Amino acid sequence: ISQPYWQGQRLLISAGPTFEDLDPVRFLGNRSSGKMGFAIAEQAQKMGAKVTLIAGPVTLATPFNVHRIDVRSAQQMFAAVQAHYAQNAVFISAAAVADFALAQSSQHKIKKQPGQDGLTLQLVKNPDIVAWVAAQSDKPFVVGFAAETQNVLEYARAKLHAKKLDMICANQVGENLGFEREQNQLTLLSAQHEKILPTSTKSEQAQQLLAFIAEQQTSIKA
Ligand code: C5P
Repeated sequence: ISQPYWQGQRLLISAGPTFEDLDPVRFLGNRSSGKMGFAIAEQAQKMGAKVTLIAGPVTLATPFNVHRIDVRSAQQMFAAVQAHYAQNAVFISAAAVADFALAQSSQHKIKKQPGQDGLTLQLVKNPDIVAWVAAQSDKPFVVGFAAETQNVLEYARAKLHAKKLDMICANQVGENLGFEREQNQLTLLSAQHEKILPTSTKSEQAQQLLAFIAEQQTSIKA
């Protein structure tokens, strides 16, 4: 697909889950596979973009000619995004960032005590990475994701405004869609536009998403 907008354009993408360590053998994670973010990276590269992909812990091959940075925790992802956002024209935050991390992770394996019948973990809020980028004066065009099991569009619109994003991709998860699945169904929302994509593979969703960003950006500049 010929996409003049993406030719030579710098694109930063975050993908996958984050893992928040409890101790050297345990962590809090989520079901994100990273496939959507990796599909966007692959398609954008094919359209001519210079892609940097910040990946949480996933088992996916690096797309051809994509610069990949591996991270594990939300704090590490935040540091990598902070180091790279300013060199990019567009930031797509497809990662499923953990909302909370352990207040303290244990240096040694946590042992259960004889007779212990419960365990309380103290969690602290992680930084909201995409909202942080959107608040910078030298911010790129910022695209978020909203993966929800219900009221998807309503929640997505609220996040678009609350996080001051330029665009959000509403993502119905569960059943045969979204996390850990091959197929996806995104609805693309900006302040002025709304586009419902038909259910298709993550590669096809990625192409449509990149075309939509190009349209938005071209119309802003026109
Ligand atoms: O608030 P919620 O997690 O539902 O918002 C999803 C969007 O925010 C996604 O684009 C995700 O990558 C981003 N996010 C983030 N940092 C967080 C939480 C979410 O960048 N700590």
